[in-house]
Amino acid sequence: MSENQEVTVETSHAGMEACCVVQCDLELGGNYWNNQYESGKTGWDLGMASPALVKYIDSLPNKDARILIPGCGNAYEAQYLLDQGFMNITLIDIAPLLVEQLQAKYVGNSNIQVVLGDFFEFEGQFDVIIEQTFFCAIQPYMRSEYVKQMRKLLSPEGELAGLLFDTGFDFDGPPFGGCKCEYKPIFDEGGLRVDEMEITPDSAKPRAGTELFFRAGVKKSTDACVVDAACGIKQYANIAEKLNWNKINQDKK
Ligand SMILES: C[S@@+](CC[C@H](N)C(=O)[O-])C[C@H]1O[C@@H](n2cnc3c(N)ncnc32)[C@H](O)[C@@H]1O
Repeated sequence: MSENQEVTVETSHAGMEACCVVQCDLELGGNYWNNQYESGKTGWDLGMASPALVKYIDSLPNKDARILIPGCGNAYEAQYLLDQGFMNITLIDIAPLLVEQLQAKYVGNSNIQVVLGDFFEFEGQFDVIIEQTFFCAIQPYMRSEYVKQMRKLLSPEGELAGLLFDTGFDFDGPPFGGCKCEYKPIFDEGGLRVDEMEITPDSAKPRAGTELFFRAGVKKSTDACVVDAACGIKQYANIAEKLNWNKINQDKK
């Protein structure tokens, strides 16, 4: 690590255990990522669509679904989507060199558009957003913004799905690792309802056992009520238990 990199250990969430996330002050903008592609330092690149995402894509019923892949990189999942007949795919990436290459690859294909831009400033509405080593590529302090932006980009019944690392890394990120106990409250607070978040048996080999497959949707007011009601009931039960306990003690006297 260079001397000018300030390291902080991020505590994940009030009242929870710290979850081993280290963040540095590297500027992870277009230049950084462009340099990675230019110099061929693309250690994250699987060279194929992740089997877990292939499985997920195979479960999608609607070929017209508006699908977004942010931080798409070489976008193997996008090629798989095209091969399966999906017709409304958008890719966005911040690295000009990469985007130029993808735009050239898909020129004239109306089923896919490739946008050069910053995910955090992007606008649109999507039915499906696919996460693949993008969340781990942004600074951990941007994670809440990531969730809020995903919430904005998702249609009311839309779904964000993909893979998150369930491990720390013993070098300065990216990738920045983390764990389920840390991710869930960030999603929840940003307005996304986590429907699934479990270690997947379908990772590509080098990542076996270290990835969570997750699905999340936009929280509805009724979802909030369910959570609040459950909390309320729990609190009420605690109070009732306490009162009952006091009563028993008084009766004993
Ligand atoms: C670790 S790579 C992953 C690429 C691809 N998803 C994969 O799995 O091969 C992270 C990608 O996110 C892109 N990226 C980083 N920050 C971004 C941002 N704010 N907006 C759009 N793309 C971004 C980078 O250019 C890079 O292509």
